[in-house]
Parts: sequence; C-alpha cells; structure tokens
Amino acid sequence: MLTDRVRYKPLQDKITDPATAARHIQDGTNLFISGFTAGYPKLIPRELVRRAEQGEQFKINLFAGASTGDMVDGALARANLLSWRRPYMSDRYMRGQINEGNIKFKDDHLSQLSAKVRAGEWGRCDVAVVEAAAITEQGHLIPTMSVGNTPTYVQEAEKIIIEISSNSPDLEGIHDIFIPEDPPYRMPIPIYRSADRIGKPFIKMDPSRVVAILFSTERDHCPIFTPPDATSSRIAEFILDFVRHEIKKNRLPAALPWQAGVGDVANAVLSGFIDDHNFQSIDIYSEVLQDSVLDLIDLGKVRAASGSALTLSEKSRERFINEIYRYREKIVLRPVEISNSPEVIRRLGVIAINTAIEVDIYGQVNSTHVMGTQLMNGIGGSGDYLRNGALSIIVTPSTAKGGLISAIVPMVTHVDHSEHSVDLVVTEYGLVDTRPLTPRQVAEQVIKKCAHPDYRDQLWDYYQRAVRERGGHEPHIIEKAFFMHQAFLEKGDMHLTAKQRIFPIMD
Ligand code: COA
Repeated sequence: MLTDRVRYKPLQDKITDPATAARHIQDGTNLFISGFTAGYPKLIPRELVRRAEQGEQFKINLFAGASTGDMVDGALARANLLSWRRPYMSDRYMRGQINEGNIKFKDDHLSQLSAKVRAGEWGRCDVAVVEAAAITEQGHLIPTMSVGNTPTYVQEAEKIIIEISSNSPDLEGIHDIFIPEDPPYRMPIPIYRSADRIGKPFIKMDPSRVVAILFSTERDHCPIFTPPDATSSRIAEFILDFVRHEIKKNRLPAALPWQAGVGDVANAVLSGFIDDHNFQSIDIYSEVLQDSVLDLIDLGKVRAASGSALTLSEKSRERFINEIYRYREKIVLRPVEISNSPEVIRRLGVIAINTAIEVDIYGQVNSTHVMGTQLMNGIGGSGDYLRNGALSIIVTPSTAKGGLISAIVPMVTHVDHSEHSVDLVVTEYGLVDTRPLTPRQVAEQVIKKCAHPDYRDQLWDYYQRAVRERGGHEPHIIEKAFFMHQAFLEKGDMHLTAKQRIFPIMD
C-alpha cells in the first residue's frame, strides 16, 4: 500500500498522523484545499474540528475549488472555524453563517480563481491540503475525482499536506493538468476538441514543500441527484426539441459540445439524450460530470466528456471503479481554469445550460441571491459558460416554494447574467429564443410562454402599464418593479388578487 501509493521514496518519511500534520495550520492560516464537489480532504478538517472542540481558539481562511462535502464546509462552519470562505459553496449551515455575516465570502467566476491566487490576490498561500490517489516515482501528484484549482494551490503553497485516499481507484491517465502562463506571457490554450489533452497526467509538485502525508479511508459524500421529475423532464424536452430543430434548419452545427450546470435540470437534459436517436455522438465540455455521463458512455453515445470533477452517486461510483478502463478513454478531468476557460468555451462553441433562481421579463438572470439579499451558493461556472457559449440557455422551474414564488419576475433583485449572455429562457411551460427579438418582444413572450399561468396576468398588467406610462427601450415602472417580491416579503406569497394587481400595490 505504502510503496504503491507513495512511490517517491524520500517522501515516505513524511507519513504521519492527522494531529501532527494539522499543527501546520494555526490561527490566521490561509488554507487552500483540493475539492470540487468531490476530491476534498477529510482528515485535516476533522482534526481541526477536534482541536476546536477541545477549546483551542483559532480561525482560518478557507479556499477551495468550489463546493465540498459536509465533512469540510459543514463541519468547519459548525465549529466556527472560518473567517473567510471562497469561492462557490453549497452547504446549508455555512450559507446561513455567510448570510448572518459571521463568515466572510466573496464570489468569483471559477475560471478566474487560479490566476488570482497566482497573482497573490488572495494573500499568501500558507498551506495546501490536497487529496491524492498517489504520489508518482518523480514526486508528482495523481489527484482523485476532481482537479479544480489544486494544480495552482500545490504550485503556490509554502507547505503541502497530502491525504492519500486508499479508496481512490487507479485514476492515472484520466487527468490532464495544464497551468497557462499568466499575462502578458499567456499563449492560446491549445484545445480544439473536447477530447484534446494538452498537459500532463499528474500535478507537478516540489516534494521539498511536502510537510506531511496521511492515509485516508474516507469517501466523498456527493449530492445525490434525483431522477428527473416532470418539471425537469419537460424543460429538457423543450431544449432538445429546439436544438434538434435548429440543427435540421442548418442554424446550429450538429457536433457542438454540451455543458450542463449543477442541479437536476442539467442532469435531466443529459438523461434526455439517452432515448433520443438524433444524438448519437455527443461531446461534453463541462464543469461537473454527473451519473448521466456514465449512462451515455455505456450506450456508446459519448465521443468525449471533459470536466473538472466527477460527482457520482454511490451506485455509479462502483460501476466507474469496476470498469474504469472503459471510462478513462472517454473522460478527461482538467483544472477548472481550463474546463471553464472563456477562450476554449468560445472556440468550441459550447451549448451551455445553467439554472437561475429568477429571470426577469427582459432576460436578466439572478442565479445567486434569494430576494436580492440571501446568498444561495455562488455564481460558480455559470458566468464562464453563459457569457461565452455558442448557445446560452437559462433554465428554471416557473415557480419555487410550492408555487408561492414566481421565477419569472418584472425585474431581478440581483444580476449575475445580463440579457446579453442569455439566448434561450426555458421553464416547464415553454421556451423563448431571445436572439431575434427586441426587449419588448422578449418580455411579451417570456410572460406568455415561460411564466406560470398563475402569474401571467399580473406580469402582463405590470408590463402593459410600464409600456403605457413610461415607455422606453425596456419599459419599467422603477418604483413598482419589485411589487411581486414585496408581496412575498409581506405575506409570503407572490400571488395577487385581480384587485391587488392594480390597486393598491401597483398604484
Ligand atoms: N426564490 C426563492 N428561492 C428559490 C427560488 C426563488 N425564485 N428559486 C429557487 N429557490 C430555492 C429553492 O426553493 C431551493 O431551496 P431549498 O434548498 O430551501 O429547497 C433552492 O433555491 C435550490 O433550488 P432548486 O429548485 O432545488 O434548484 P437547483 O438545485 O437546481 O439550484 C441554483 C438552483 C440556481 C441555486 C443552482 O443552480 C446554482 O447555485 N446556480 C449558480 C451556479 C451555477 O449555475 N453553477 C453551474 C455552472 S457549471
């Protein structure tokens, strides 16, 4: 085990226990960890929590690839150990602490993080804690199920702690690690197809910076994506019908790669390919690869699947491990600055599908802040893909919270993606192709086709009054633009009676 996994002999002396390793992390440490939904370290976070439980007072600044599991984000937040957390996270307790102002958080486009760390924008890179499948004969790292920002964190860290995962399958050859030069010396990133490999199958590491190596038998606990429900299946059908039609009309090339963001709708779209004979040879150029990608590979429908992480359910993980030789030929795991690179996304012409919290009648999108104030998760890679995709699709169920909230609103309360980054708006009621439409035409169609029928009249009333009374290229009654949000904040429901629609809320 030891010689199989730590094949660089001089580093075998660094094998130690979590308590000894974690002494390198003290009050104020900037801690950079691996992990991008999967592949996060487990032993060091647990040891930090143990120290806190024993009464030690300290706080750290935690930087990851994106979201991690409860063993990291949940446990460290509950132990009150975090001063800062960056970037994207999805832990419920941590979210609450961020919204209370107890944990500092700043959102970033995921494609930009590594370069910001290399530029020193996040401060000193004190310690990197990374999960790895193995250390090679030359002292380099084989990551586990994600790459994220780990190559840059390992390059920049003053000290490196490695958690060797004894559960990890033999992943050698699946990763493609490439760190671009920073401006002004950056050259084009030479990816021309999703399958292209441009780097090395390991993370280059200076072994002299390794201060500790641990062995871990812990597993990732990834979010389980539920099988597509009626809403997400309907959204997926609209998208697939539209793309099929555009390909038939020669308005969209047949071989463009697909990106599907986090969440059930994204998974449903990929699942929609399973029974669709029109899509036989799919390229995926995405961020997180989920179960549906394995299903499609099994059906022989995937030419290449490129991402930064593999987030699999327990069942799919077993299948992946048992037949890794098959999947390795199709899957490439890259650093997130490559998987999400605007340059590459534009060159490949990615069809990008991302989920919104709310969309307004003119197509501006809020993906991150409920009622304009409460952080949900973060922008993640949605901006990287929507701004640069060949066809940028924003999806959302038409309502949230059992129908009490309309996801189609007059004006979004927070803007992550402007109308210029959104080609299609899709809910379970319909799809609007905004590209050939004026803003007023977009508003009319989004209200008629995408809004839930319960909310169409009040949205239409608002729009008509805005056109009549204020006019303009994108008519709004600014002082009333949040009347639906206001109704929800006041009575917990965006539904308004016919009387309320015009008097008094609108007057
Ligand atoms: N108002 C209030 N709450 C809303 C809402 C709205 N308009 N729309 C959704 N929500 C709430 C849901 O009720 C749910 O809350 P709960 O966890 O308390 O039940 C939560 O937001 C998640 O919504 P859900 O319907 O389960 O969708 P999801 O899991 O697909 O998540 C986003 C939707 C927008 C939060 C998620 O896609 C996200 O974080 N996106 C931004 C980052 C991104 O797109 N990354 C991908 C790039 S590769």
